[in-house]
Amino acid sequence: MSPDITTRPIALVGLMGVGKTTVGRRLAKKLGRDFYDSDDEIELASGRTVAGYFRDHGEAEFRKGERRVIERLLDGTPIILATGGGAFIPNETRKILKEKALTIWLKGDFNTVMERVSRNREKRPLLRVEDPRAKMRELMDIRHPIYAKAHITVPIARGPHIRTVHKVIRAIKAHESETA
Ligand code: S3P
Repeated sequence: MSPDITTRPIALVGLMGVGKTTVGRRLAKKLGRDFYDSDDEIELASGRTVAGYFRDHGEAEFRKGERRVIERLLDGTPIILATGGGAFIPNETRKILKEKALTIWLKGDFNTVMERVSRNREKRPLLRVEDPRAKMRELMDIRHPIYAKAHITVPIARGPHIRTVHKVIRAIKAHESETA
């Protein structure tokens, strides 16, 4: 029998700028669960910032560290996990996420995501390029079909993040009644 999803960990996936961390933190508060952010955990474990990790070890090593951190966090405790934007892309990490958590894709539109990341670009090594808009379009084209493999898709709400939190809770309940 598949485990009751209400007791499963919940992992938020999706592009940079969709609000995984803010929505995750508030969702955790509403559901009375602990919250973790995979980027923060990588920084804690390695003693480096994400940007520093990319610079010193490259993206491939970062993806390995990310997989290890996610595997460790998804030990069955019903946490809320905000993943880094690339975590759901490698097959192995996606397999772990889908097996051990209820995965929710926070799906953002180009303009909303671009507006949000432009405030915090120095923290995001993938957008430290000459044309961040073109890079974001490329990431969207490549990644959206992969994020679509999450258990649930929730288009982010316009306006305050709390609206997206409410949409996520409704979507989980709808998913539960469909799969009951
Ligand atoms: C990445 C997204 C970032 C961070 C790293 C790589 C990506 O996380 O993990 O810069 O590949 O999209 P956020 O989505 O939290 O910005």
